Amino acid sequence: MGKKILILNGSPRRKGNTSALVSEFARGATESGNEVREFFLQSMNIHGCLGCYGGGKDINSPCVQKDDMQKIYPVYREADIVVLATPLYYWTISGQLKTCFDRLFAVAECNEDYRNPQKETVLLMAAEGHEFEESSYWYDRLEQHLGWKSLGKVLCGEVAGIGDIKGRKELVTAYELGKSM
Ligand SMILES: Cc1cc2nc3c(=O)[nH]c(=O)nc-3n(C[C@H](O)[C@H](O)[C@H](O)COP(=O)(O)O)c2cc1C
Repeated sequence: MGKKILILNGSPRRKGNTSALVSEFARGATESGNEVREFFLQSMNIHGCLGCYGGGKDINSPCVQKDDMQKIYPVYREADIVVLATPLYYWTISGQLKTCFDRLFAVAECNEDYRNPQKETVLLMAAEGHEFEESSYWYDRLEQHLGWKSLGKVLCGEVAGIGDIKGRKELVTAYELGKSM
């Protein structure tokens, strides 16, 4: 049976390199019979976490802030796999993805011990250089502390401008990873 896949695309460029990885991953995953839902975070109204510890009271609308995260929460709740897609920005993930990810805390607040829902996960990244260590470190903590299971990472370096990723083998890797879901 197909899985439910949520893609959080944290690139601000709809036709950029991260989005190209997302498209290929989604193409493979869809061909394999999975249900894929992508959110392009840049075009959504998502505010930073308030750190109020006041969430988790309503499972359908867990955060006190009622912005576009309300569209993501139900999909996140149902998802088997969460794909985190982002360009490398100052050696780490983009603000768009981090802002969204912090807001998932409201879902963990639905549980007494702030336990996060268990997910499988994938990391897709594009960068001009190759310094993925910090983002990779962050991603690995999801496995270590949230109990998520990583299904793979596709890290594509040496791409800066829109279209630079054309013909790169990482697009094939992203497609094959999607296909294997
Ligand atoms: C604000 C900003 C910060 C960046 N920081 C880095 C960086 O630390 N390391 C790097 O290799 N590339 C960095 N880049 C380059 C992007 O990661 C690169 O252009 C990437 O391909 C963009 O992906 P996109 O096409 O999905 O937007 C940065 C670009 C911007 C705009």
